[in-house]
Amino acid sequence: MVKKNGLFFWRWLQSPKTVGAVVPSSEALAAAMARAVPLADGYVIELGGGTGVITQALLNRGVDPKKLIVIERDPTFYNLLIKRFPNLAIINGNATDLTKLVASAAGIRQASAIVSGLPLIGMPKPVQHKIMDECKALMGTQSPFVQFTYSLFSPLNRQEFSLTGQRLERIFNNIPPASVWQYYKK
Ligand SMILES: C[S@@+](CC[C@H](N)C(=O)[O-])C[C@H]1O[C@@H](n2cnc3c(N)ncnc32)[C@H](O)[C@@H]1O
Repeated sequence: MVKKNGLFFWRWLQSPKTVGAVVPSSEALAAAMARAVPLADGYVIELGGGTGVITQALLNRGVDPKKLIVIERDPTFYNLLIKRFPNLAIINGNATDLTKLVASAAGIRQASAIVSGLPLIGMPKPVQHKIMDECKALMGTQSPFVQFTYSLFSPLNRQEFSLTGQRLERIFNNIPPASVWQYYKK
């Protein structure tokens, strides 16, 4: 745990905008993210796995390991994730290429939920739009997009991204306190 936090902080020092947080999410926040995922039959895609705290919470929630796909752009975190979860499909890639990545690595064209630990708020608008277009191409009308934020407000402008959505939980046991938002395609 201390080792993972140290690695996270080191990667944040090198790439603060991409990593987006000084320490990994707390187990309380990770569990709240996992609670926002309905237990359905389809694939669950996690974006920005980091050191795997949300990945572990999704497994604890009962997501089928054969149907959990994790995308991580940073090679250091990717190498940690493939060691920590040798049985999961972990893909080293950018969420902007999501549909291509999951189609070529696992033949997936639809997801029952997408769980994002990405620092979306800090990304330029065109990148946010590209990522959300990719996600929406995989989401059915009943597939949520789950995102945490340190902001008091919705991390995605629902009108701009044609989403409905609401804050499900506020987690104070996290540095800093965070909220879990769940969105659906309009
Ligand atoms: C705020 S950290 C969250 C890590 C972990 N999910 C957690 O909650 O502790 C953001 C993660 O997203 C990854 N990331 C940032 N931009 C990405 C992108 N465009 N595609 C895939 N992963 C990305 C970072 O490398 C980092 O691991």
